[in-house]
Amino acid sequence: MNIHTYERLWIVGAMVLIVGFIATITYGSVGLGITMIDDEEETLAPDEIGEDERFADPRVEQVGEDEYAAYVVAQTFVFQPDPIEIPADSEVTFYVTSRDVIHSFTVVGTNTNTMVIPGEVATMTVEFDEPGEYGVICNEYCGAGHHDMEGELTVVE
Ligand code: CUA
Repeated sequence: MNIHTYERLWIVGAMVLIVGFIATITYGSVGLGITMIDDEEETLAPDEIGEDERFADPRVEQVGEDEYAAYVVAQTFVFQPDPIEIPADSEVTFYVTSRDVIHSFTVVGTNTNTMVIPGEVATMTVEFDEPGEYGVICNEYCGAGHHDMEGELTVVE
């Protein structure tokens, strides 16, 4: 081996490391069973919420047999709709967006938890089997009323 071969080996080695780091950052959470970021997030400007037929009237809508879509808007310092009413034994896809600043949509006692970023629609599908009542809170500091930003999610029979 001459000196150039070693140099080439080092370059290739460095490239493998760089790609490895990027892959770890991008896919690292998959192996842990946690997906913090939905990378199919779509965009929606906060001032277009009123013109978007899903969010102009925040609601829960039946979209199939035992399947529902929940269009939720977070803003200082409320969630709409409130309460969010969902039938038991159903699968619900939440579409959550913010009208102003960053909030979170966190259903206490479940792993339903997402950051809500103005300009983006966070999407997540959750199954609800048993009737019950859950608190909805905001985990991201969003202003003076942050600690009072609460809603309710009711799973009805
Ligand atoms: Cu909304 Cu904190």
